[in-house]
This record gives sequence, C-alpha cells and structure tokens, in this order.
Amino acid sequence: MIFDIITIFPGFFEGPLSHGIVSQAQKRGLVEIAIHDLRDQALDRHKTVDDRPFGGGEGMILKPEPLFRAIRQIQAQRGESGKVILLTPQGKRLDQAMVVELSSRHDAVLICGRYEGIDERVTESLVDDEISIGDYVLSGGELAACVLVDAVTRLLPGVLNNSSSAVNESFSAGRFPLLDCPHFTRPEEFEGLRVPEILLSGDHKKVELWRRKKSLEKTLKNRPDLLQYDALSEVDKQLLL
Ligand code: 6GU
Repeated sequence: MIFDIITIFPGFFEGPLSHGIVSQAQKRGLVEIAIHDLRDQALDRHKTVDDRPFGGGEGMILKPEPLFRAIRQIQAQRGESGKVILLTPQGKRLDQAMVVELSSRHDAVLICGRYEGIDERVTESLVDDEISIGDYVLSGGELAACVLVDAVTRLLPGVLNNSSSAVNESFSAGRFPLLDCPHFTRPEEFEGLRVPEILLSGDHKKVELWRRKKSLEKTLKNRPDLLQYDALSEVDKQLLL
C-alpha cells in the first residue's frame, strides 16, 4: 500500500515511522510512505501556505492553491484510485472498522490539517473522507496521520509474522469486540507478585475461559459502552458473575 502524506512539517515523520513494525514493513516493501512538503507547492517566493480567515477571527487557514497542486500532482503520479483523507478534529472518529476498510486499498492521500483549518474548497472538491482520531484537539493532523498509518500498516498482508495476533486482540474480534485480557511473562514471581496459577497449569481449556473472563471484566470496567449485556452468551454471563 502507498501512503502519500501532505504536511508543512515533513521532518515530523522521521521519528514515528522509522521504528518497529512500520519501519520493517517499509524496508520489506509492504508499505510505501511518501512525505510531501506543502511548501514545495507554494507559488510565491516566501513560500506562503496559509493566510487570514475571511470574515475575521483567530488563527491562520491553509490556502487552497498549494493543497490543490499537491493533491493533483500525487493523483497524476498514482492515478485517482486512492482515497483523499483530511485529518481534522471535525472528521468522523476513527475506529477499527475504518482501519480495516482502508487496509484493503492500494493507496491513500493523507492531508495533515494545521492552524485553525484548511480552506473549505479543498474539502468540498478533493477530499473523500474527513477523519479524527478522537474527541480532543491536537495542534495538527501529523500525529493523527501517524496513528492512521500505524493502525493500517499492521493489517497489511505479511506485516505481522503471526496473522492471528492481529485477529485475537481488542477490537478485532469482529462483530462484538472485547478488550484484550491481561498478559504475563517470566519471572513467575516478582517482588512477591505472582503470575495467576491458571496460566501455569497447562490446562488450555481453563486458560481460555480465564482469559475470556478477564476480557469481559476489563471491558465492563474500562469500556462499558462496548458491552451489550443482552447480547452476551450464557457462558459469558456466567463468567461475569
Ligand atoms: Cl485528525 N487533527 C487535530 N488537529 N486534532 C485532532 C485530530 C486530528 N483528531 C483528534 N484530534
């Protein structure tokens, strides 16, 4: 998959995308991430990309011309098959279903919003989807773009060595997601804190039921909005007692 990211802070992406899974996926050619400096598309010698809002008010707005030029240049290079996504707190809130949908595409253009916003004519004419990563305000779309790229990249074929590790965890259990259960590793005892005996028992059926119970409890405690009690199986209801 190819991500084309349009930003006024190209250096921002050097750190976040050059570690771990995303870095490995790039090296193995499973994902390509191209960073485009919006200033390269500015038309004047000061490389202006923003201006004051018509009608008055605080802050600066990203101008339409550089964004139109940047998007059209990318589309000329890649074809117009890819979605154009604007990262903005006004967007639809990102969830795993949207991440899964995006991971099936060949390419996507990500526009990082900045300042108080971007000229609405860009959004109306060229943007397919507006996406937010949550109900809080960031100073720009760059962090959100990194979040999106990470979440999508780890779902691309061949990226995770164990294909089930992407399937088993929180939010990936399909129709009815639960939060992941707690995990433990060696040592069995650390400063008097012991690993739950069931996990050492070798009884796979018991371990599975214990994990399900812990998932249900964690979800009830931290994300009750995800739990529809009526939709639970009898076994699940029993585990929650
Ligand atoms: Cl995508 N952008 C900004 N500026 N703030 C956000 C966001 C995006 N998602 C949540 N907050």
